[in-house]
Amino acid sequence: MSNLLLINIKSLTGILEGGQLRLAGQSMGYLHQIENAFLVIENGRIKDFGSMQELDDSKFPIELYPQMDVSGKFVLPCFVDSHTHIVFAKTREDEFVMRIKGKTYEEIAEAGGGILNSAKRLQAMNEDDLFKEACSRLKEIILYGTGAVEIKSGYGLTVADELKILRVIKRLKAISPIPIKATFLGAHAFPLAYKNNHQGYIQLILEEMLPAILSENLADYIDVFCDQGFFSVDETNQILSHAAKFGLKAKIHGNELGYTGGVQVAVKNNAISVDHLEFTGQEEIDCLLNSQTMPVALPGCSFFLGIPYAPIRKMIDAGLPVCLASDYNPGSTPNGRMSFVISLACTQMKLTPEEAINAATINGAAAIEMSHEIGSITKGKIANVIVTKPINSLAIIPYHFGVDQIESCIIRGQIFKDL
Ligand code: NIG
Ligand code: FE
Repeated sequence: MSNLLLINIKSLTGILEGGQLRLAGQSMGYLHQIENAFLVIENGRIKDFGSMQELDDSKFPIELYPQMDVSGKFVLPCFVDSHTHIVFAKTREDEFVMRIKGKTYEEIAEAGGGILNSAKRLQAMNEDDLFKEACSRLKEIILYGTGAVEIKSGYGLTVADELKILRVIKRLKAISPIPIKATFLGAHAFPLAYKNNHQGYIQLILEEMLPAILSENLADYIDVFCDQGFFSVDETNQILSHAAKFGLKAKIHGNELGYTGGVQVAVKNNAISVDHLEFTGQEEIDCLLNSQTMPVALPGCSFFLGIPYAPIRKMIDAGLPVCLASDYNPGSTPNGRMSFVISLACTQMKLTPEEAINAATINGAAAIEMSHEIGSITKGKIANVIVTKPINSLAIIPYHFGVDQIESCIIRGQIFKDL
């Protein structure tokens, strides 16, 4: 927690002063900026900002507010990555090669690969090693500009192993300089032993995993992979409605592999978000319009698996809010670089750079119920901001796809170097 005064900012971008907690439709196309600006950080929070002409440095003496001259550089809120699975054991490049040779994601999963493959590997790894690996991924994503993150379980699939992942996330929360939300995703896939006994596994989730998780306070949300070949709409409804009795809100995986009713069951259960949405038609859009559920797109997954991109241009044009997240995981998206997600949103999904950045900042924060704390340049919010390299315009961020324009990330007033 510290103080800092950023001066000569070429453009302070992503200012929200009206108390908006999320942006929808046309308002997503606007990013408020102040050129030639200053930003004061006090005790790790945004204290003040404005144009350099308005800066009264006598209020911020240099002994208390060290100065950082960022001439030529943009300053914007850190990305909020509202959907990741960064606690995993091993990579799955073997399946990547199988897909290149013609197998589909679903065929690999059906044959015991995919999520079950990751579960086998995670079950064989101890908590300390998992924690170490997750720490290095956490550090990696902060260096790429992520200033708050959600992390899911879901590669355990036994009582002990789901708890193991959630305990790792709890340890990450304790050492992380950025906020973390934890999501219980025991309903990620049916273990082989329950292939023909779905109710048996659901019982395990609801009667053994959930009580243990609640008693250790290990999860902020519950998630279900509601899709063809995974959990049905009825099974999803059963799990979410049971969890709701204990105050656990939902964030669900839906409509990745087909028009499977994931959106409708998410909305019915007042889910905070419904994520993936590669198969979204007018019916799903109408359903979302009548809800508070945030649609979250994961373009890195579409890019890597070669599946359709979620039609988020259409969603924004219909007046919806839209959020972008990485989905960092070993199967469908082995990458947590949010600036690449933003590039994909612009090049493949036709969002403007302003829309994509809003989707990855304030709307990301809304998708983890943190937009009162993070996701914009607003007085009082946590001062997690990106300082870019010297750039001429905001569009340069998505334009140089795959190459970060980030010079440093300031986390609660300090340049982030290591955990
Ligand atoms: O969000 N789709 C479901 N779960 C993850 C991927 C899981 C995996 O293949 O390991 C996702 O893409
Ligand atoms: Fe996911």
